[in-house]
This record gives sequence, structure tokens and C-alpha cells, in this order.
Amino acid sequence: MISLSHVSTTFAARGHEPLTAVDDVSLEVPRGSIQGIIGFSGAGKSTLLRNINLLERPTSGQVSVAGTELTGLDDAALRRARHQIGMIFQGFNLVNNLSVAQNVELSLKFAGVKDRRERLRRAAEALEIVDITDKASVYPAQLSGGQKQRVAIARALATKPEVLLCDEPTSALDPFTTATVLQYLADVNREFGITVVIVTHEMEVIKALADNVAVMEDGRVVEEFPASELRREGFNPRTSIGKYLLSDGIRLDRSGPAAHGSESGEQKSGQSTRRSPQHAESQDQGQTRRSEHAALAGSAGGVR
Ligand SMILES: Nc1ncnc2c1ncn2[C@@H]1O[C@H](COP(=O)(O)OP(=O)(O)OP(=O)(O)O)[C@@H](O)[C@H]1O
Ligand SMILES: [Mg+2]
Repeated sequence: MISLSHVSTTFAARGHEPLTAVDDVSLEVPRGSIQGIIGFSGAGKSTLLRNINLLERPTSGQVSVAGTELTGLDDAALRRARHQIGMIFQGFNLVNNLSVAQNVELSLKFAGVKDRRERLRRAAEALEIVDITDKASVYPAQLSGGQKQRVAIARALATKPEVLLCDEPTSALDPFTTATVLQYLADVNREFGITVVIVTHEMEVIKALADNVAVMEDGRVVEEFPASELRREGFNPRTSIGKYLLSDGIRLDRSGPAAHGSESGEQKSGQSTRRSPQHAESQDQGQTRRSEHAALAGSAGGVR
């Protein structure tokens, strides 16, 4: 459904070295599947996601969606092709001086739905899918974070896209609301067969939702595996970043200033200070925590 072939994106900045945010990425996302993309801040996840709908045009490489090579289209054809691709942004990107319903209607206007009644009908339908009909006439400032995120999902779904690109859709949400939002994404994937690409730095999100995982570091996809591997006992990601992301949990060293020597031998051994041993969690603890989250996620359906 989505095919990225040797995609690279370099940002040129005056007075600075050009920065390669996405570096020769090739990725195939099958129709109807949920692809997770995980990595630390600055790894290039958002840029890669924006490469898929050419919101950020790659410097080189090809992007195809549903058999159409987007990188070969002129502007008008690209605008039409983009109607098949919904996007949920990092942060919610709602228009503050428009009501919830008007926010959703606006995306339909952009997608070329000319008839106002048709737009209102489809906006209402999209709000219904994420159970937020009762907030249709309020403004974004009056919504909680989870409600804003559901409106953002409704807005992306209103145009009935075949592909839904999600950039950190739950990073601002508490664990329970996260589970609820992920449940909606799972539902639209199953019910409408929408292909979903979700960018996150949380392995929990990947584990709950994704079919396949791509791990990014320094602009590259350094590792790919089926998400089912995450449930397999003894699964050990190949790369150090994959291992770190799997060992969720934060352990701080609070033993006093002496222990803060950032250049301890153990810490120096890795390329990234983020992999310092204090942060790592044993496999067992990690599994307990993950199963707690899974239980939460399991109950999400009940709150709908
Ligand atoms: N428009 C831009 N101009 C210049 N540099 C950019 C631009 N967009 C992103 N970058 C740089 O590209 C790199 C990758 O950024 P990107 O936003 O893709 O990372 P990310 O993995 O999504 O991070 P986060 O988890 O913090 O959202 C970063 O070093 C960033 O500073
Ligand atoms: Mg990002």
C-alpha cells in the first residue's frame, strides 16, 4: 500500500552543515496493516511520516501510495492523491477559533467536498466514530487533551482516507486515555481496512497497536520486525536502540553527586548516553509493567 524506496531528506540551513533527517529509507507497508515507527527524539520519525504524503518532499527517492508514485505527480494530481491520506499531527493542530464540528468540516472543504450539507453530514459521522458528538459545538480550548486528540482523529477520518498517518497521537495523554485513543485507531483499521502508520517513542503504543515495527536512529531504519515478536519470550532486538526501547521504565541514580560522573566506564561504552545502565530495567520488571499496560489497554473498549 505504501512503498518507500531509498527516501532521503536533507535540510539545508544557512551557516550550518546540511542535516540529513531521513537517510536512505526503504519501507513497505502492506494494505490494511498497522506500521509502527519508533525511535528517540530527533531520529527523523516525523520527517519520514511527512515524506509519505509529501508534506515534506524527499530530497531523493520514491514514494508510492496505493500504486501511485506521488513523487512523480504534478501539484494538482498530488492534491487529489492526498485526499486518500489522512494525518494526525504531533500536537493536535486544531483551529482554535472554529468549533469541533467546524474543524472537521474544514478538512472536508480542503478535500474538495463542495456541498455544505454533505460536509456537515460527514463531519457528524466522523465525530460519531470517536464518540465526541456531544462536543460538536464547543471550541478546542474547552476540550481535554484526549478529546482534542479524538477530534483530530475525526478530522483525519472524515475524508475517508485509505491511509492514516499518525504522529505521536498519544504522547500528550495519560495511560488510560492513550488506551482509548489507540482503541479507536484499532477500530478504524479493522472496520474500514485503513492502512495506519503510527510514529511514537513509546514501545507500549507499538506493542498494543502495530503489526510491524521499524526502529529509526539518525535518520535510518536500523531494524524491522513483526510486532508479534514483542510478545515472544526471549525476543531480543538486534540493535542497541531496539533493546533500549524494549526495556521501558526510567531508573534514576539518586545516590548523590559522586554517582553523577557522566563518564563512567559503563556509560562510555555505548554511542548514546541514553543507554546508560541506570535507565535500563530488567526484562522481568519490564514485562510486569508491560502487562499492566496491556490490562489497561484491554479495558479501553469498555469506556466507549
Ligand atoms: N524543517 C526543518 N528544517 C531543518 N531541520 C529540520 C526540519 N524538520 C526537522 N529537522 C531536523 O531533522 C531531524 C529529525 O527531526 P524529526 O522531527 O523528523 O524527528 P523526530 O524523530 O520526529 O523527533 P521527535 O520525537 O522529537 O518528534 C532533527 O534533527 C530536526 O532538528
Ligand atoms: Mg516528531
